[in-house]
Order: sequence, then C-alpha cells, then structure tokens
Amino acid sequence: MKNFFLLILIISNFIFIFIHFKKKIKNIFYKKKIIETDVNEIHNIFETVKIDEIIQAPKKKAIIKTFSISAENKIVGMTSDYEAWIIGCISKVSKNIFEFGTCSGKTTYIMALNSSIDSKIITLTLGPSDVEDLRIDNADNKVSYRNIINESIYKKFLFSGSEEENKIEVIFKNSLKFDEKNYEKAFDLIFIDGGHTYSIVKNDSEKAFKMIRKNGIILWHDYNVGKTSSKDVVKYINKVSVNRKIKKIKNTSLCFYKEEG
Ligand SMILES: C[S@@+](CC[C@H](N)C(=O)[O-])C[C@H]1O[C@@H](n2cnc3c(N)ncnc32)[C@H](O)[C@@H]1O
Repeated sequence: MKNFFLLILIISNFIFIFIHFKKKIKNIFYKKKIIETDVNEIHNIFETVKIDEIIQAPKKKAIIKTFSISAENKIVGMTSDYEAWIIGCISKVSKNIFEFGTCSGKTTYIMALNSSIDSKIITLTLGPSDVEDLRIDNADNKVSYRNIINESIYKKFLFSGSEEENKIEVIFKNSLKFDEKNYEKAFDLIFIDGGHTYSIVKNDSEKAFKMIRKNGIILWHDYNVGKTSSKDVVKYINKVSVNRKIKKIKNTSLCFYKEEG
C-alpha cells in the first residue's frame, strides 16, 4: 500500500513538472527538422494547371522575369534559380518589400523586375567599409562570420543603372543598429538573407516579426541542416518555430512564415 502511494506521488509530481515546464522541456528535446511544405501552401500564385495525367504547368501569373549569372563572374552568396523564381512570384503580389542582405543584389533585382511599377524595395546591407566595426558574439558561428566579411564587398549592384533601380533604396547599415520602429507592419514581403551568425539572424528575425504586416510573408534563406555555414540559421529557426508557425519549402533552403490576418 505504502509503495502504491509513493508511486502515485512520483507520477503526479512528474505530470506537474511536465505541464509546468512543457515549453522548456520541448525546447531541450527539439532537434527535429521543421515541417516541410509544398510551395503552393504559401500563395495561390503557385497553384498549377493540369495539362494531362503526367504534366502540370504553372499559371500565367507565375511566369516571371529572371536571369542567371555564370560561375565565372564569381558572385557570392546567391539563391538557386528555383528559389529566385519563388521570390519573384511572391514579389508579383507584394507592394512593399524589405530585404536583409543585398550582396550582389541578385534577389533585389529579381524582386524589382517582378513587383508592380509602384512598389518599393528597401534592401539593407554592409558595404566594404562597414565591416570594420562588426563584432562577433562568443556563441556565433565563426564560418558564418568569415562569410559576412567575404560577402560585404559590393558598392554597386547587379541592378545599378537599370530602370528598376528607381524602386530600390539601398541602406548601408549594420542591421544590429537598424531601427525598425518607423517600419512597423509596413511590409508585404521580408527576405532574411543577411549575416548568418546566430546574433544577427535573431536580430533580423525579431525585427522582421515587427515589420511584417497582416497576411505578409517572411522568407529566410539558407536553412541547410548539416551545413556548417548555415548552423546558426538552422539553430535559430528550429528554436523560434516552437512558438511560430514556420515551415521549410520543399526542395529549397527557404523557410516561410505568414503573419495571419
Ligand atoms: C548571403 S548575402 C545576401 C545575398 C543576396 N540576398 C542574394 O541572394 O543575392 C549576405 C549579405 O548580408 C549582408 N550582411 C551581413 N551581416 C549584416 C548585418 N549585420 N547588417 C546588414 N547587412 C549584413 C552582407 O553584407 C551581404 O551583403
């Protein structure tokens, strides 16, 4: 009898601890990759048209303006063509766009080429002279830090001199010092592809959650499980997706979040 009561006491204590610290326990054991989803879950622009039993075609509105750059040009830090197509399609239905991380301006250009004539794109980046006072946290991934230095080399971009440049505002500033207060709920699309260290991904994401408007979409680049340079991106997204509905888009390194209206 005594043993029975002891057992009941242990079990009820266990249940109490579990209920009380559910979130913390979940965080400790949360190592699993986040849920993957098909691209058409993001927006109906990605729905396909059935041609016959074996082939589905994109709808006319999912045909975008795009370009490729040969490897000989040695441009660093770019998205794949499939990822660029996804960004281009969402740009078609977005008026106000914000990007963390311009680099060569490939994604900025794709956004500008495909968004409406009255749309506006703000892209935030580090120029060669801005990296001097960049600091690294002890917990930050050193490979990602080195990549920031290697990618912050551009003063002119792929879109420089083009007609689309009129839609684009480039801000040379460390995102850690960027004040998001003037941009609360201002954007339909935010693309997070700046510094890939934990402290920067966290900073950029927390600002993006404030800057996104209802029904707006946040996309993160480089969720690559097992890739050293993506370690901090994966770590942050795994952590934040416990409380936010973030999903990975199949066959890409993109993750997405929709601010439900
Ligand atoms: C991976 S590249 C962006 C690639 C670009 N989105 C594309 O696909 O063409 C990363 C960019 O983030 C910028 N960056 C890194 N850390 C930053 C920070 N703390 N603040 C602002 N920009 C940052 C770098 O200067 C670099 O231009």
